[in-house]
Amino acid sequence: MENTILVTGGAGFIGSNFILQWLERGHSQVVNLDKLTYAGNLHNLKAIEDNRGYEFVRGDIAERERLRDLLAFRKPRAIVHFAAESHVDRSIRGPEEFVRTNIDGTFALLEEARAYWSGLGQGGDGFRFLHVSTDEVYGSLNLNDPPFSESTPYAPNSPYAASKAASDHLVRAYHHTYGLPTLTTNCSNNYGRFQFPEKLIPLMILNALNGKPLPVYGDGQNVRDWLYVEDHCSAIATVLERGRVGQTFNIGGWNEKRNLDIVQTICDIVDEMAGRGASSRRELITFVKDRPGHDRRYAMDATKIERELDWRPKETFETGIRKTVQWYLNNKEWVHDVISGSYRQWIETHYSS
Ligand code: NAD
Ligand code: DAU
Repeated sequence: MENTILVTGGAGFIGSNFILQWLERGHSQVVNLDKLTYAGNLHNLKAIEDNRGYEFVRGDIAERERLRDLLAFRKPRAIVHFAAESHVDRSIRGPEEFVRTNIDGTFALLEEARAYWSGLGQGGDGFRFLHVSTDEVYGSLNLNDPPFSESTPYAPNSPYAASKAASDHLVRAYHHTYGLPTLTTNCSNNYGRFQFPEKLIPLMILNALNGKPLPVYGDGQNVRDWLYVEDHCSAIATVLERGRVGQTFNIGGWNEKRNLDIVQTICDIVDEMAGRGASSRRELITFVKDRPGHDRRYAMDATKIERELDWRPKETFETGIRKTVQWYLNNKEWVHDVISGSYRQWIETHYSS
């Protein structure tokens, strides 16, 4: 095995933040396998495109031969698996791609990882398959329930959550049945740079900047537990290096917020940073039809990762959200490319197959 890690989905929001942080921490040799769906954006990785320790491969995790060759030639010591369809609303409109990538794709990756790892024999002792998953597999909490722990029963409610739950079960089975050295992380809602503006926080920042309506689903009282993306990435690195094989770890920010409070906070920060006219951006808030099956509350108990691996988040919501708004204000070109779709043209010019 080389010192290489294979990252899937590394052109997406969290994967690109992970790769940048991993290389900044002095590691080298990252291979990024990404299909470049609408959510994959290589502009996120501009800072390292000439780094000799980084290689991009356009490909689908469901293509087994491609995976086999990649594993045989690059001989990674670990696979960090981010690639997924990730947006709940899209999964409600069209679940098929979620089943294909999140379930079939993870299955293909597990099968090829198992064959590769078995072929390593004794040399494969240090190999790890780290599966990045979500708190949504646990379903929804009532307001007085304790947060989700690693032993909370699975009860996924959306097609997205069900597809991630299925992939978690496959990963678990590959450890129990075949001994594949797996690790699973289940994380709460992330926010930060490079998040595609279909998700709540970047959508609200950009709409607020552009004076567009801010669509809050239902009564806006749904609760999410927010974690700054760089904290999620450092947690994944910690689990990869020190997590006990076969274990799952919940990751969260101990940071529950109601959606309406988040949107109001963003309005106030945008008013402050971008200047406000006669009225506050809060006036753009518009209550719209609720998401079908909308989970009421998520909250993560991140005690285990703190106790076993001494990890805890560094960023508070108050500092993280200000950094995030500032990033979207400072990176107008990135925003323009995403909103106009020109990042897709760039991908097709450089990576059409
Ligand atoms: P994202 O949608 O921003 O990025 C997904 C990436 O996967 C994209 O680059 C896309 O091109 C790639 N991809 C999709 N299908 C692929 C395929 N078949 N083969 C190869 N690449 C493919 O997602 P994200 O928000 O960065 O989430 C990354 C992972 O973290 C996902 O597994 C998600 O379930 C999990 N997660 C996300 C959050 C969150 O708040 N965003 C929280 C917890 C867990
Ligand atoms: O909890 C982890 C999950 O967080 C991840 O697994 C998913 O990949 C990620 O997309 C995210 O899922 P959510 O559905 O919680 O995120 P989203 O940003 O889509 O929505 C957050 C909350 O805001 C949710 O209660 C729905 C609400 N919302 C969302 C949008 C896009 C609105 O009220 N208005 C909106 O326009």
